[in-house]
Amino acid sequence: MEIRKIRLNNVGRFTDLEVAFAPTEKHASKVTVFVGNNGAGKTTILKSLATALSWFVARVRTDKGRGSPIPTEAINNSANTAAIFILISDAAHSNRSDYYWTLSQSRQGRAASAVSELANATELAGNYRYHWALVDENISLPLVAFYPVERSVLQIPLNIKKSNKKVDQLAGYESALGGGVNFASFFEWFRDREDSENEAGIPLNVLTHLKSTFESDKKFVNELNRVQNASRDKQLSAVRSAVAFFMPGFNNLRVQRSPNLHMAIDKNGETLNVAQLSQGEKSLMALVGDIARRLSIMNPALENPLHGNGVVLIDEVDLHLHPKWQRSLIQQLTATFPNCQFILTTHSPLVISDTKDVLCYVLDDGELEERNGLYGLDANQVLLSVMDTDARNSEVQDRLDRLLDLLQDKNLKEAKALFEELSADLPPDHIELTKAALLIRKLELRSA
Ligand SMILES: Nc1ncnc2c1ncn2[C@@H]1O[C@H](COP(=O)(O)OP(=O)(O)O)[C@@H](O)[C@H]1O
Ligand SMILES: [Mg+2]
Repeated sequence: MEIRKIRLNNVGRFTDLEVAFAPTEKHASKVTVFVGNNGAGKTTILKSLATALSWFVARVRTDKGRGSPIPTEAINNSANTAAIFILISDAAHSNRSDYYWTLSQSRQGRAASAVSELANATELAGNYRYHWALVDENISLPLVAFYPVERSVLQIPLNIKKSNKKVDQLAGYESALGGGVNFASFFEWFRDREDSENEAGIPLNVLTHLKSTFESDKKFVNELNRVQNASRDKQLSAVRSAVAFFMPGFNNLRVQRSPNLHMAIDKNGETLNVAQLSQGEKSLMALVGDIARRLSIMNPALENPLHGNGVVLIDEVDLHLHPKWQRSLIQQLTATFPNCQFILTTHSPLVISDTKDVLCYVLDDGELEERNGLYGLDANQVLLSVMDTDARNSEVQDRLDRLLDLLQDKNLKEAKALFEELSADLPPDHIELTKAALLIRKLELRSA
């Protein structure tokens, strides 16, 4: 499933906005990124997508299912009716591939100027439902997930409940559209899968003991390894490998039973309780773990469930992330989840300068502009050209500019005074000051 296009009429600050999403003819990747100032409308676009898609999700469950309405506060203040039009392409279980629907909402007691038309959502969802019921109970469902900014409030449960819930593919949609990342259900799921993994194989502590006791018997150890790999839970392995790929140095995510039940992970050889990780580490692990878990649940027949398809919306994708992680984020997302379409917003120049073929939009005051050729720009250039922000504190920049002007005018006396002032304020190895020092030296030599 891929989103081709959305159109917003009187939603939030937009009176009429149409947006196309990658892949497009010019952008082969499956990644669209929105950048823009606060209040530009980025979140409005993601929320509208989530709202429109919620009707598809509800109708995979049952054909009369109801998704989320457009909230009244999202209706543009100068209008009485808001409408979201969405165009989806999905050829999974039918010859047809284009589906579109419109969701509308009017203020109470006001005449509606648009009506909802959801027949295509019902039909598309129906394709999956019928195929599931009649043809293939191991059908893959398309992931649809929205990670809002509030996802950062991560609650780590003190006890990990045993859920014993029967999990079918639909569980992959549970609170996927705005609930945020829920560590509690992640841990519950992880514990259940690990329990059944342990039941199916030899318990890890027994294995470790056997392997060290019979270390010299290579044949026996190989056989133990084979049994261990064969009993590995495919879904857990997928989640573990996704987390390990995004967070080098971290591995062996697991539930530890003593002294008390908790989630543990090894960081560069040291075992840590997940609760002890930094906010950035927790956020990334929760985000990646959640996408991987949902894909695993929704693609029971795939050899690698991370290759399942779907749509993932992430608001402020750089939230809490170290610059090093921001830079590689898109590449890692697309490498780990190659069949997912990503629609992201960001404030970080690092996120967008490192990936080719990404469709990047700048939102400015409700106006949308496509920006190309950002690949390989350094972070300063992106700040200047896309985010309309000076790379430096503007007061410092003004003084540096004045210093250059003085040097060009060969006004050595004033230049040196300003240079002294700036040297007191800036670090000794400041690149512009070093350049200025050279110019001053040159002028001095010339005038001597
Ligand atoms: N119902 C509305 N009518 C008009 N403008 C609105 C409405 N709701 C929100 N806005 C405007 O949209 C802005 C919020 O947009 P949002 O999508 O959250 O921006 P971003 O995520 O880019 O920071 C607000 O600052 C406000 O100016
Ligand atoms: Mg926002």
